[in-house]
Amino acid sequence: MTNTILRKRRLIPGQTSELVIDAPHIAAKARPGNFVILRVCPTGERIPLTIADADADAGTITLVYLVLGKTTAHLDTLEEGEAIPDLCGPLGQPTRIRRHDGPVVCVGGGTGIAAMHHIAKGHHLAGNRVTGIIGARTEALLLFEAELAGVCDTVVVTTDDGSRGRRGLVTQALEERLRDGEPAAEIVAVGPVPMMAAVSEVAGRFGVPCLVSLNSIMLDGIGMCGACRVAVGGETRFACVDGPEFDGGLVDFKELAQRLTAFRPMEQQSYAEYQKHHVCRCAN
Ligand SMILES: Cc1cc2nc3c(=O)[nH]c(=O)nc-3n(C[C@H](O)[C@H](O)[C@H](O)COP(=O)(O)OP(=O)(O)OC[C@H]3O[C@@H](n4cnc5c(N)ncnc54)[C@H](O)[C@@H]3O)c2cc1C
Ligand code: FES
Repeated sequence: MTNTILRKRRLIPGQTSELVIDAPHIAAKARPGNFVILRVCPTGERIPLTIADADADAGTITLVYLVLGKTTAHLDTLEEGEAIPDLCGPLGQPTRIRRHDGPVVCVGGGTGIAAMHHIAKGHHLAGNRVTGIIGARTEALLLFEAELAGVCDTVVVTTDDGSRGRRGLVTQALEERLRDGEPAAEIVAVGPVPMMAAVSEVAGRFGVPCLVSLNSIMLDGIGMCGACRVAVGGETRFACVDGPEFDGGLVDFKELAQRLTAFRPMEQQSYAEYQKHHVCRCAN
């Protein structure tokens, strides 16, 4: 179990990277929808990242992360040949994948597109027809379009500014697809909380079941600390062990959004301190 970084790709320089990691024990069991929890140093915080792809034969898993704060910035300093000291997984319930007669629509936004890739691939391997709808603010921020083309029957691209694909939001493309296309069997959405809330609303109007992958704050990832609790259908659920995927129509997105901001001042301070003391190796 080396956790060595075999390949690193800067997908969006300075913002989003992909790591292919030697982790045969995790790769052997990883299913679409699973995530890992890692620490970049022995005294660091634990952060969850979705397994964007896994290759059991090669013994590798792929992670894609957005540099957002201290820990993801620290993670982004690791280069090929270096190892992640602490990597735990696969965690969470895998995506419920079964054979459908109708197509499955997988909707991804921002970094969520990479997480959605593993789910779309799972549906594809199960013999389902898959439509991918992916969106970003602008062309330069689009991820995994080529990878998705390999596992989807159709990929619809949207950008807010129209620089690639259709101008507009993924929800507009989804609405059009549900109105004019063959009835969808299921929708899966991974992305920012407002996007998943909007996709759930559209799915509800068309009466299509919709799964969303929740990015609630996690610490232990094994159901003991309670940090990841979310309200689903009026009940408290733990995203790490009961999820991270839930029925989008039942999720209290407002509460989830509020809980995600709970530690913002501390996170900002921690990142500022890190940037003050961090010695950049990029230019060396
Ligand atoms: C199941 C799951 C899968 C995820 N998969 C991915 C992924 O594939 N790629 C990706 O870029 N991001 C993913 N995230 C989000 C990622 O964990 C956070 O971006 C990361 O923890 C940020 O840490 P930071 O120290 O860099 O930033 P911080 O400044 O500490 O945090 C920035 C924001 O990230 C969120 N966050 C912080 N700490 C945690 C934590 N321990 N758990 C969850 N969210 C946290 C909060 O919303 C916070 O406001 C996932 C989250 C969950 C719950
Ligand atoms: S992360 Fe601790 S209970 Fe889910």
